[in-house]
This record gives sequence, structure tokens and C-alpha cells, in this order.
Amino acid sequence: MTDYLLAPSIIASDFAHIADEVAAIESAGADWIHVDVMDGHFVPTITIGPLFVQSLKRVAKLPLDAHLMISEPEKHIEAFAKAGINNITVHVETCPDLPHIIEKIKSLGCTAGVTLNPATPASSLEPALPLVDLVLVMSVVPGYSGQKFMPEMIAKVEEVHARLDALHSHAHIEVDGGIDEETLPLMKKAGANVFVAGNAVFKHPQGGAAGVRALKAVMG
Ligand code: DX5
Ligand code: ZN
Repeated sequence: MTDYLLAPSIIASDFAHIADEVAAIESAGADWIHVDVMDGHFVPTITIGPLFVQSLKRVAKLPLDAHLMISEPEKHIEAFAKAGINNITVHVETCPDLPHIIEKIKSLGCTAGVTLNPATPASSLEPALPLVDLVLVMSVVPGYSGQKFMPEMIAKVEEVHARLDALHSHAHIEVDGGIDEETLPLMKKAGANVFVAGNAVFKHPQGGAAGVRALKAVMG
């Protein structure tokens, strides 16, 4: 039986009211909190770091799912683990030795994920697939929330699902970027089971709790 999980991305939330924003999505039934870490180098935007995560951890009950869009992630994973992150996902484009960094993430007590830009082929994940707890398929070019969903990434989810199936892996398949009431079912059908949503949740006209409920309604 597949668990379908919703991971709202706080990048789209109001950081000035982060405790209220987190309480709203938790009360509405969100499963994880997706933490988009951007360094202004691997992607153009700068967002948050371990200091913010320490404060976030004090107000969040849900697991924190860090998506590291940063160069040289190995230098920073320990600080994020110590700050309270539960899952750490790194970009294959930033890690020359994927198995090594995955083992390091696990040694810190976190689950380990890998992710890839839309232009990067799923075959690049091969060395990591037997080791990971999660594969994150990006359906936008990383760097901003509120971008348009890239439907050509549906086939990539199907490919990752087939590759993990062949390994009898129980790793999560998470999708991220332009996920809303319309695109979520397409990615679920393709084999995803964890859904990141920034704008569809926190920019919902009736607020974050309504955004969570709207997506949970189509998750089934
Ligand atoms: C993009 C981030 C995504 C994004 C999600 O670089 O990794 O998590 O913020 O936001 P939406 O759901 O609005 O595309
Ligand atoms: Zn993300």
C-alpha cells in the first residue's frame, strides 16, 4: 500500500509569520515541510540556512525535508542535520561522488535523497539508486517557486519508478515544481508518492490550510 505524502514548501510562505504558517498546514494535514535551501550560486536565489532551520524546528512538528540547491553540499550537511533537518536531498549536479555523500548524510542520522534538474538524465542517478531513501524529480528548473509545470518530466518520473522497481527499492519518489490540483494527479499516476507544493499551498486564496486540503483532496 503506497503512502501518499504532501510536503508544502515554505519558500512560498510568509517568513514573518512562519509559526502561524506552519501551524496552519500542520492542522490541515500536511505530512512533511519542504525546506528549499538556495545559495545564489548553484541557483540564482538565496533563501535560508541552518540558523533559520533551528528556529523552524522549534515551531514545526512535522519532519523537515531539506532540498539543497547549493554548491559543495558536503560542507553543509552536518550543520543542517544538527539544526534539525530529517531528510537531506542533494543535487546530482553538485556531487561528484554520490554514494559517498549519501553514506555521510545517513551517518548523521538523516534519510538521504538525490535530485536532478530537468535537463539531467535519470541515468545519472544510477550509482545512488541502490542506496537512497528518496528520489526527487524536479518539474521546474530549480531556483524559484511559482514556475510553470514541465509536463515532459512525467516521463522522467515513470523512468525513475521503473529503475527503482527493478532494484526492488522502496525509496520515495518526490516531485517538485508547479505541483497543483491539476498536475499532482498526473505525477501520482506516473509513480510519484511525495508531492512538494509551494504556491499551490501558501498562495491559495483562502490560505495555507485550504491549499493543503485542496491538494489532499486530489491525492486520494
Ligand atoms: C524550486 C523549489 C521548489 C519550488 C516549489 O527551486 O525546489 O520546491 O519552490 O514551488 P512551487 O510549488 O510554487 O513550484
Ligand atoms: Zn524544492
